Amino acid sequence: MYRLFFQLVFQRMDPEKAHHLAFRWIRLAARLPVLRTFVAAALAPRHKELRTEALGRRMHGPFGLAAGFDKNAVAIDGMTMLGFDHVEIGTVTAQPQPGNPKKRLFRLVPDRALINRMGFNNDGSAAVAARLDARNPVFRTTVGVNIGKTKIVPESEAIGDYVTSTERLARHADYLVVNVSSPNTPGLRNLQAVDHLRPLLTAVREAADRTVTDRRVPLLVKIAPDLADEDVDAVADLALELGLDGIIATNTTIARDGLGLTSDPKLIAETGGLSGAPLKERSLEVLRRLYARVGDRITLIGVGGIETAEDAWQRILAGATLVQGYSAFIYQGPFWCRAIHKGLAARLRNSPYATLADAVGADHKKVTS
Ligand SMILES: Cc1cc2nc3c(=O)[nH]c(=O)nc-3n(C[C@H](O)[C@H](O)[C@H](O)COP(=O)(O)O)c2cc1C
Repeated sequence: MYRLFFQLVFQRMDPEKAHHLAFRWIRLAARLPVLRTFVAAALAPRHKELRTEALGRRMHGPFGLAAGFDKNAVAIDGMTMLGFDHVEIGTVTAQPQPGNPKKRLFRLVPDRALINRMGFNNDGSAAVAARLDARNPVFRTTVGVNIGKTKIVPESEAIGDYVTSTERLARHADYLVVNVSSPNTPGLRNLQAVDHLRPLLTAVREAADRTVTDRRVPLLVKIAPDLADEDVDAVADLALELGLDGIIATNTTIARDGLGLTSDPKLIAETGGLSGAPLKERSLEVLRRLYARVGDRITLIGVGGIETAEDAWQRILAGATLVQGYSAFIYQGPFWCRAIHKGLAARLRNSPYATLADAVGADHKKVTS
C-alpha cells in the first residue's frame, strides 16, 4: 500500500519537498488526540521482551530514529507515535544556518539508498533549546540531541562552538551526541582524529557537567564508516579513556561501494553522504570492530542500512544495545518501526537469549567462548 503511494506520489516529487510534506502530515496527526492515540496504539513497541535499559533510560524497544530527520525538534511526538522508541534530534549547530544550496537530497531508488549534502540546515542551538524548553510532551520518549559545528566557524574554534551548543542543549538531552562524521561540513571529519577529538569531547563533557548539575548527561560520539580500521580502534580506545557513554556507528559514507548498476550514474556521482542499503555491510563491520574493542563497557548504537528486523537483530548480536534508522523509513513508510520491533521480538523469542541485553554482542561471545 505505502509502496504504491510512494511510487505514485513521493517518487514523482522532489525528495526534499516530499520529506517536508510527509513531515507536515506526521506533525499534524500528532496534534490530533484521537488520531495520535490510535496510531500510537497500533505502531508503538509493546512487546514486553523488548524492554531494555540503555544510557540510564528504560526503553520500550531498541529501535529509534537516527539524526537528520527531525533536525529542529519539531516532531518528537510525531515520530514516537510512529513507533520510534527514541528520537535523536539534530544535528543542531551553535548558530542557525541554511545548509547547502538545493538540490541536496537524492533518491537512488533501485539501490534503496539516498545521497544527501544537506549541510546541517537547522534553526540553531538557541532556537532549538527554546523549542525544547516550551515542549509539552505527549509521549514519554528518549530524546537524543546531536550537535555539530557551525559551517562558518573555523576548525580552530570548533570546540567553543560545540561548547555553546552543549550549554544551551544539554539540559534537554536524555543523551548528547557529538557529531564529527558528517561529510557535508568541510573539515568536520578531521575532528575524528583522536588528537582533535580528545580536547573536544573533554570540553563538551565539562560543559555538560557545568550546565546540568542534577544528573549526568550521557555523552556519545558519532563516527563515519569511512574511518580506517585503526582509526575506529583509536576512537574506541579514546572513548574508554574519557569515560564516554557510547559510540554511534555510523554516519553516511562518501564511498560509493555496494551500489548496484541500476541507479542513474548521474545520481551516483552527486556529492554527499550515501545512506541506506549499500551502507549496511560497512556499518555492521565498524560496529563489530567497536564491540570487539569495548565490549559491554560502553553503549553502542548501530545505524546504517537497516531495512528489516533481521538487519536490526544482526546489529544487536554484533554489539548494539540500540539501533537506529533513517533511509529505509522513506522507502518503507509508517509501518516500518512496527515491523522491526515485531520481528525483533519474534527473533528474541526464538533465540537462546532470555533478554535483549543477553543478545547484545552474542556473536562475539560465541566466537571467543
Ligand atoms: C537526509 C539525511 C540527513 C541526515 N542528517 C544527519 C544529521 O544532521 N546528523 C547526523 O548525525 N546524521 C545525519 N544523517 C545520517 C543518519 O543519521 C544515519 O547515520 C545514516 O543515514 C545511516 O542510516 P540509514 O542508512 O538508516 O539512513 C542524515 C541522513 C540523511 C539521509
